[in-house]
Amino acid sequence: MRQLIAGNWKMNGSLAMAGALVNALRAAAADKALACDLLVCPPATLVTIAAHALLGSPVAVGGQDCHAKASGAHTGDISAAMLRDCGATHVILGHSERRADHGETDAQVRAKVVAAVAAGLMPIVCVGETEAQRVAGEQDAVVAAQLAGSLPDGFAGVVAYEPVWAIGTGRTPTEADVAAMHAHIRRELVARLGAAGAGLRILYGGSVKPSNAAALMALPEVGGALVGGASLVAEDFLGIARAARG
Ligand code: PGA
Repeated sequence: MRQLIAGNWKMNGSLAMAGALVNALRAAAADKALACDLLVCPPATLVTIAAHALLGSPVAVGGQDCHAKASGAHTGDISAAMLRDCGATHVILGHSERRADHGETDAQVRAKVVAAVAAGLMPIVCVGETEAQRVAGEQDAVVAAQLAGSLPDGFAGVVAYEPVWAIGTGRTPTEADVAAMHAHIRRELVARLGAAGAGLRILYGGSVKPSNAAALMALPEVGGALVGGASLVAEDFLGIARAARG
């Protein structure tokens, strides 16, 4: 399976920045040397312009969240269908920053996944333990519970393992810890979804950068990366992409 290198711009970017960055990605993606799939997830204000600039290119565009309802009186929110209408094909759901900043529960994430799929979007569902949970040795149980609560029956999307303590900190788990967690997630997916669970991508996220990408992307069961800070600089994001497997 080709690895997926996904950029999560978070609350960063402007029209000028987005134009320059996606144009650089578009040019790089035209080079057949890139073996992976590329995805950028800008803030909602830039999804349309990014999708427009990437029309006809293999670089996909996604949102960073969506509401569980298709439309209605939900001031400030956007629906999965709206993202799709703007040209998005993917949406990140249940990111730890949304779980922390907006109190999103597993049940809410699951409802958003259902909405995303109904609108034709590929959901990328984030799970991961806090530092206290890792120190207490609870990471496997925490992630299993997040998967059980966040993934609807018949889930056919992407899972991203993002240890909360590794996000934006420059720290990463050891390669052995990443491999062990990805194997654990794979077992949970297969137990839950049967053979279909064996084919889903499991991304690693948390301080991925060009200097550590090759080692992380070489690990078994790692199906790509969800990249925050390093996705804002074309050369860094492409450096990670070049380290990915086809
Ligand atoms: P980071 O963020 O690469 O800046 O650590 C990853 C993420 O939150 O998706």
